[in-house]
Amino acid sequence: MTTKQEIPERIDQLRNQLNYHNHRYYVLSDPEISDYEFDTLMHELTRLEKEHPEYADPNSPTCRVGSDSNSGFAQVQHRYPMLSLSNTYSLEELQDFETRNKRLLNESFEYSCELKYDGVSISLTYENGRLVRAITRGDGVKGDDVTANVRTIRSIPLQLTGGDFPDLFEIRGEILIPHEGFQKMNAQRIENEEEPFANPRNAASGTLKMQNSSLVAKRPLDCFFYALMGDALPFNTQIENLLHASNWGFKITPYINRCSSLKEVYAFIQHWEKERSQLSFDIDGIVIKVNSLRQQELLGLTAKSPRWATSYKFKAEQALTRLLSIDFQVGRTGAITPVANLEPVQLAGTTVKRASLHNADQIALHDIRLNDWVYIEKGGEIIPKVVGVEKSKRISNPELFRYITHCPECKAELVRIEGEAKHYCPNELECPPQIKGKLIHFVSRKAMDIGLADATVNQLYDLGLLHTVADFFLLTYEQLIQLDRFGDKSAANLIASIQEAKKVPFRRVLFALGIRYVGETVAKTLARQFKSMDALMNAELNDLTQVHEIGDRIAESVCHFFADARNQKLIVSLRNAGLQFAESETTPQSQALANKSIVISGVFENYSRDEIKLLIEQHGGKNVSSISGATSYLVAGSGIGPSKLEKATKLGVPIINEEEFRKLIGS
Ligand code: IVH
Repeated sequence: MTTKQEIPERIDQLRNQLNYHNHRYYVLSDPEISDYEFDTLMHELTRLEKEHPEYADPNSPTCRVGSDSNSGFAQVQHRYPMLSLSNTYSLEELQDFETRNKRLLNESFEYSCELKYDGVSISLTYENGRLVRAITRGDGVKGDDVTANVRTIRSIPLQLTGGDFPDLFEIRGEILIPHEGFQKMNAQRIENEEEPFANPRNAASGTLKMQNSSLVAKRPLDCFFYALMGDALPFNTQIENLLHASNWGFKITPYINRCSSLKEVYAFIQHWEKERSQLSFDIDGIVIKVNSLRQQELLGLTAKSPRWATSYKFKAEQALTRLLSIDFQVGRTGAITPVANLEPVQLAGTTVKRASLHNADQIALHDIRLNDWVYIEKGGEIIPKVVGVEKSKRISNPELFRYITHCPECKAELVRIEGEAKHYCPNELECPPQIKGKLIHFVSRKAMDIGLADATVNQLYDLGLLHTVADFFLLTYEQLIQLDRFGDKSAANLIASIQEAKKVPFRRVLFALGIRYVGETVAKTLARQFKSMDALMNAELNDLTQVHEIGDRIAESVCHFFADARNQKLIVSLRNAGLQFAESETTPQSQALANKSIVISGVFENYSRDEIKLLIEQHGGKNVSSISGATSYLVAGSGIGPSKLEKATKLGVPIINEEEFRKLIGS
């Protein structure tokens, strides 16, 4: 219970939380909490503000909808504001909606029940049958003009068919990525060593905000329409509107039901709550609209949402099953993840046998014990997770679950770094999954670029042919030809590729070593600064921290790495193998970027990121990894993270695209 003094504090806290989560959802396309959790917070705030009008504030998140606006797109005002829908999570709340409609209309009425597509809303304007504009919801009043991107979506008609469409109208729909395309796209991303998207909604929203529409065209976007807007539409009901829109060429799903009672509405909801896993795309609920447009007008709007519609939101699909045992996976960095082995159970269309338990704190928080009945959830993410325990099903009193203290792979004692949720195995150099991780990283594209599949690296390790990364240079044709699926050609190619790797520049060799916190950019900074492996190895902590962008954490990690005798031995072997241990000077081509520090982000059409970085240096500039007030430009490619764009905008750092960058260097 909230006491009287605590009310303003709680209101404040809820407003802050909601603003934060709005931003994560709409701007960053990377929500931290489920819609359900978000709505619960919003409901609490709405209730508190209603009960205590003295704390009203027009800037409260209850008074406005979140914004998905992004710099880089022109802002356009919506002719009709894009409102949101009120949410309900229970059939009782729907009864309130029905009661209000009855009271306000005082005549019979019908509903149109529709799927609530889980994607990104879009508003399209058509003039004389031609698509002229596509605007995102933005803050509901103004949105981003993403016409060029939307034109690439093949299921959106650019020219309408039939002839009975109004000269000017808007149509609203939801852009989404169906499951099949999403899976293919993520598989491709993993292959390209890009971060996979957590769920189709995030993928759709990230895609729509890309700056390069030719890349958007390659993504499997689709769009379903649900509302027609215009000043003089010739039809009488929502369903008629959609049927006509379908004739003009818009994609409308057939899953729309005209219901004349709440009972029929319930049946529709219950049907789809069960069957939604059979659909080829995500839905997150059902939308219930008063069907007659005249009655919609009578009911009118509130500031945020129409009174004539509401949504029933599904909770994330859950399943209840038995926890049989817990395994502990050791990641490439030594991070330990507890994984539940479950009695197989059906969840959202697939059979689930394993689910993540996150970390020791989560197990303790839910007090999870072996043989418990646990709830699992997919919640949009790829890997299911355990979200709770059904304690009433616990029969005996099982022992408290004790978290492991030693690495399941190498038996080293685990450590827990302050402030981090996970336990780590510190035995970097002898723990098998960590060694395999290092080997795989070493040959990866941005490191030594030796074309080797992860499975082959694992096989070579298991056969005892690889112990450290230096062993790649000792592999022979005779050894390789004996591997599964290796023929004369592939063995010869691999040997050639290993020889080729000896030319890889020092900066990438340094990155390939997999020193903790030494990513691509840090490796480059170190290579530029110290110029050779010897100089770097001789550097003291102090020498390292004096370098711009090298903090204590990185400096300590580098010193720690080179202080280990096993790593020193490794360096000797790599030197003997003939790798590049010194930076070759890159001759400057111009001073066009002198004194400029430049951040690049995203994917570029004409250059790899490495090429752009090289160009910056060759024109006298400096490539830096993070944006600050001192940054001269942010060169934005497609797929750039919204947080970068936002930071640049906030700090007033000019954002330029690839073309503008080319102009800067006179290319
Ligand atoms: S009607 C006045 N119908 O849900 C509101 N919306 O919070 C008109 N959505 O942003 C919305 N499926 O993008 C409507 N069948 C459907 C929908 C739908 C998904 C989205 C819409 C909006 C959000 C409402």
